[in-house]
Amino acid sequence: KQRPIIVQGPMPIEAEEFSERLDDVEEEKSGTFVFYKGKLDGYPVIVTKTGKGMENTAAATALAIEKYDPVAIINQGTSGGHDPNLNVFDIVIGERTVNIASLKTPDKKEGEGIAPKTWIPMDLMASEGSAGEDPNAEKIRYYKGDPDLIQAAKAVKDQHKKGKVVEGTIGSGDFWNNEVDRIQWFHSKFGTSVEEMEGAAGAQIAKAYDVPFLGIRILSNNKTNGGKYNPDTAAANQEYVFEVVKEHITNL
Ligand code: 5AD
Repeated sequence: KQRPIIVQGPMPIEAEEFSERLDDVEEEKSGTFVFYKGKLDGYPVIVTKTGKGMENTAAATALAIEKYDPVAIINQGTSGGHDPNLNVFDIVIGERTVNIASLKTPDKKEGEGIAPKTWIPMDLMASEGSAGEDPNAEKIRYYKGDPDLIQAAKAVKDQHKKGKVVEGTIGSGDFWNNEVDRIQWFHSKFGTSVEEMEGAAGAQIAKAYDVPFLGIRILSNNKTNGGKYNPDTAAANQEYVFEVVKEHITNL
């Protein structure tokens, strides 16, 4: 039996375009998560509408792995640019994904205020001990994109005509940053190309089960260069990811 490829999208506009391209679709629901089980070139592909955010994505990923035993998971959708060289409609292949909301603050006494630029990246996977006390946890945890999925994504780069396709770092957290100085802090501290609210949650759970994972994100906005929000980017990303999945299938 062929193990399916899972394609995740948070919002309806980030999932339904893809599910409509599949053949023989059957819809299955679990909680608020919707799984569109279909075929692409005769190969099983399951689109998941996960809902937004880290928690929804983590749960939908664990559920998909337990229910369907996928051969690979692609998490895709829109994002906000952290790199001024990237424009709305450009696409980032997630060479690595990182939770940029996993932070520890230094000590400050009452009245000493808060200083976000001094906050320290915190790796919850560093040990089984207290992340607050363990100095080994004071580091960034990157999840690597699967090399075969990255290769498939690179092979079809030219199919995306509305912008460029680059490899980069996807930063995730239940946070929408509009402060350009804060965005620049993430960009230099974590090396982020874009931010969104799902990728690192999917990557963490996929890694827990050793399932190949890749994040693929289109810029729908970019505060660092005045790129205005455009929801049409969601459909453009799904068109590209459809080509990526097709390519990956031929390599399986
Ligand atoms: N910051 C955070 N999330 C963003 N998204 C698009 N742009 C941004 C941004 N600048 C995505 C998230 C989430 C929804 C709000 O859109 O991944 O699903």
